[in-house]
Amino acid sequence: MNRYGLEPGGRLAGRLGVPGDKSISHRVLLLAALADGVSTIRGLSDGDDVAHTRAVVEALGAAIDGSVADGLEVHGGRLQAVEGSLDVGNSGTGIRLLAGMLAGMPFVSVLDGDLSIRGRPMDRVIEPLRAMGAMVDGSEGGDGAPLTIRGGCLHGIEYRPPMASAQVKGCVLFAGLSADGPTTVVEPAPTRAHTEELMVATGIDVEVTAGRVTVYPGRPDPFDHRVAGDPSQAAFWAVGAAILPGSEVVVEGVYAGPSRTGFVDVLARMGVRIHHDSATGDLTVRSADLVGTVVDSSEVPGLVDEVPVLAVAAAYAEGRTRFVGVAELRVKETDRLSTVCSELGAMGVTVWVDGDDLVVEGGRPRGGNVDSHGDHRIAMACAVAALAADGPTTVSGWEAVSTSYPGFGADLAALRS
Ligand code: S3P
Repeated sequence: MNRYGLEPGGRLAGRLGVPGDKSISHRVLLLAALADGVSTIRGLSDGDDVAHTRAVVEALGAAIDGSVADGLEVHGGRLQAVEGSLDVGNSGTGIRLLAGMLAGMPFVSVLDGDLSIRGRPMDRVIEPLRAMGAMVDGSEGGDGAPLTIRGGCLHGIEYRPPMASAQVKGCVLFAGLSADGPTTVVEPAPTRAHTEELMVATGIDVEVTAGRVTVYPGRPDPFDHRVAGDPSQAAFWAVGAAILPGSEVVVEGVYAGPSRTGFVDVLARMGVRIHHDSATGDLTVRSADLVGTVVDSSEVPGLVDEVPVLAVAAAYAEGRTRFVGVAELRVKETDRLSTVCSELGAMGVTVWVDGDDLVVEGGRPRGGNVDSHGDHRIAMACAVAALAADGPTTVSGWEAVSTSYPGFGADLAALRS
């Protein structure tokens, strides 16, 4: 297990780019695999999650040429059955989107992943895919991975997911591409719009009205796409710059579409001098004295992955911060309500769970020995927390960062002075 040692102090200064957005990267790989022809993708996420999705679509028959400058060429359109299981690694987005795509294929597939994936709820995608006519079984008749999918002959449905989840929406819309009629998802709250945005961009017939997305059966056209920078990674630098006095960081080319940058509004409310330029995507952040805030449940789908690092900002703020209605964090790569409490707690932060809320008392973390529990966002949130702590911090299980941001340590070293 790798350990990452951090001494506090210094400041963050400079400009950097972050990896291509992970959510977009999964989706463009699936769309390119479905498109009959050659698609070019630039700026794909370099994390392990996306590498697993890439390997899965290659195993299914998409030929990928990685020698294109700054990008990949994907030769799609002829997907076929694979013997044995397809490994999504640690990726919940990978398994749920692939389940939707494979439910529309006239063959049997088995999707599996690591121990974390096997423990995550798959009933949220099994149920709508069965309603569309796919035969989907979880492990030993349950609702977990490995998932066995006997696809083909899908019917269009109108589906109302019980939770706000872009993964569930994406799964159903990918299945809808192979249905016999239109498929509609009615969301309880708006979630990231990448599936519908990318389907429109690749020529699929999609209708989007308030809270409803309808996809018509079809296949994407081959396309050329440059993946924007990942807001979820930019959030680590935003919080790092906010809490380290004298810092100023510009993260270039960050995705500026809907339901991804809720953390910018929360940090601004906490007193951070932060600006996201919607034309260039550049996110500029300067250090500030922070104050606690209330993050309403309606804001959560737009910052669901940023709660651990926002909890770090809250730990350095004056007063209390409450994240209302964050129960979905219990079913991420780890139970993040539990891991945020245990790991920030180990650094001296007063943090607790109150029903489905997460509450953080501001102060000054002292640093300490923490563990990622195999969760990339917990590892990076702890590393950011360490920057302004009173004493040194060691993050065990640091290798988890390769899930989404293998270059995090190098980027931190380059920004730090
Ligand atoms: C994602 C959606 C979110 C998010 C995950 C990526 C996506 O999950 O936490 O990291 O790409 O659709 P849920 O849809 O389960 O909230």
